[in-house]
Amino acid sequence: MPLQLAPGARLVAATHNPGKVPEIAALLEGRFQVVSAGELGLPEPEETEQTFAGNAVLKARAAADASGLIALADDSGLSVAALAGAPGVYSARWAGQPRDFGAAMRRIEALLAEQGLKTSAAAFTSALAVAWPQGPCVVVEGRVAGALRFPPRGERGFGYDPIFVPDGGEQTFGEMEPAAKHAVSHRARAFEKLKAALF
Ligand code: IMP
Repeated sequence: MPLQLAPGARLVAATHNPGKVPEIAALLEGRFQVVSAGELGLPEPEETEQTFAGNAVLKARAAADASGLIALADDSGLSVAALAGAPGVYSARWAGQPRDFGAAMRRIEALLAEQGLKTSAAAFTSALAVAWPQGPCVVVEGRVAGALRFPPRGERGFGYDPIFVPDGGEQTFGEMEPAAKHAVSHRARAFEKLKAALF
């Protein structure tokens, strides 16, 4: 079976975050009818893997098998070199519930300070997985390398954007124009790889 996606196919975005669906549909350039796992009432699996790719595959697999549709899932996060890659797959969980990324960023700053550090190399990673019901799965990863800078700066973006400066840049992701972030972002790079693999 060729691992290709036919235009117009129905595709389930394995997310319960309604904000991600239009983003995914736009990144796929309107080629598919995108429905979300939440809309279909699919169960949300626990993210038990230790890698971004592992969690993306786990979520895509679960949604494809439960819905009978081709499923796309993402998993992403920030890995800080001086913290052995933390928060990594725990990036969302470090912000607690309800999400407080100010607290998560202060936690990173405090852990660096314990080592006498004010900054560290860091990277954002985005893993994207597409799974066929009871069938194969394709997974790709995009990455953007950079460094942390405190205090947090910029009102744009989300999550850890205010402390991340991409290599070769001056501004944090939180300060950059959305188009400028998109031009270098881990998520955009992952989508480029996915398109090259499937379209
Ligand atoms: P996920 O929904 O499990 O993939 O959670 C990923 C978490 O990583 C998000 O909640 C964000 O905190 C963080 N993250 C991922 N991508 C970005 C980004 O582009 N900017 C800032 N934070 C991000």
